[in-house]
Amino acid sequence: MATSKFSAQIHFFLLFTLIIKIKGNEIEHESKYPIVVSTWAFVDAARVAWSVVDAGFSAVDAVVEGCSTCELLQCDGTVGPGGSPNENGETTLDALIMDGATMEVGAVAAMRYVKDDIRAVRLVMQYTEHTLLVGEQASVFAISMGLPGPMNLSSEDSLQKWTKWKENDCQPNFRKNIAPLNSCGPYHPEGRSNFGQTSSYLNLVESDTPKVSQINIHNHDTISMAVIDKAGHVAVGTSTNGATFKIPGRVGDGPIAGSSAYADDEVGACGATGDGDIMMRFLPWSENI
Ligand SMILES: *[C@@H]1O[C@H](CO)[C@@H](O)[C@H](O)[C@H]1NC(C)=O
Repeated sequence: MATSKFSAQIHFFLLFTLIIKIKGNEIEHESKYPIVVSTWAFVDAARVAWSVVDAGFSAVDAVVEGCSTCELLQCDGTVGPGGSPNENGETTLDALIMDGATMEVGAVAAMRYVKDDIRAVRLVMQYTEHTLLVGEQASVFAISMGLPGPMNLSSEDSLQKWTKWKENDCQPNFRKNIAPLNSCGPYHPEGRSNFGQTSSYLNLVESDTPKVSQINIHNHDTISMAVIDKAGHVAVGTSTNGATFKIPGRVGDGPIAGSSAYADDEVGACGATGDGDIMMRFLPWSENI
């Protein structure tokens, strides 16, 4: 049952793996590198990454410039500022870089008020011993290290989308087993008024009917990009503004190393995008290794 729900919800799931062929102990790289692979048709981002890595810069540099291009272009409205408002109408950002040469990871999750999330994660990787910073403290760190902010990450478009959603009684949303079911909050656990009665647990179980997936072409997504540079080093990056109308605080697979993406010079890199709430439980890319 779990797997059928899984496959139904991964319609827009995209996956790539780059496996470096190892001959004896020598990694073959001569003329085969550099390589740039990205999810979706984010051609401009791939072009920028290519020009950086082709000029001799590192895989990490290329991933940063490539993902940053998508943030700037607001690719599909799913990357960078001005897209995917949460229940409160706010846009927050998640991103990750993994350096396959050093196995270092930098990540931010639910970052507010700073638009340059892939640059923020590079700062986390370069200037801290940590892997993941979250929320407003991630913004404070990014700004203290020189990124512009605090700034408003909303756009006319994201606010319009949010206003329409509110007018539609906050449907669809990501809540379950709550009341009210068909209107905006505040929400409380369904059956709470029966608290203490034996029937309340049964009510909860019976009402756990699967919802139609809200994940579609404009609400699915991440850019996930893998690069191998001329020296044969591998890096991977992701950048996303998360699911539209998410509950504030929700973080998907995007900034989680080994969930959205992974890189290791000795093996290669992989990345996937789709319904992050599902994917971070099933790690679909791992089946491709
Ligand atoms: C943020 O930007 C949006 C879109 O330009 C604007 O409508 C909104 O009023 C701004 N919010 C704040 C708090 O400045």
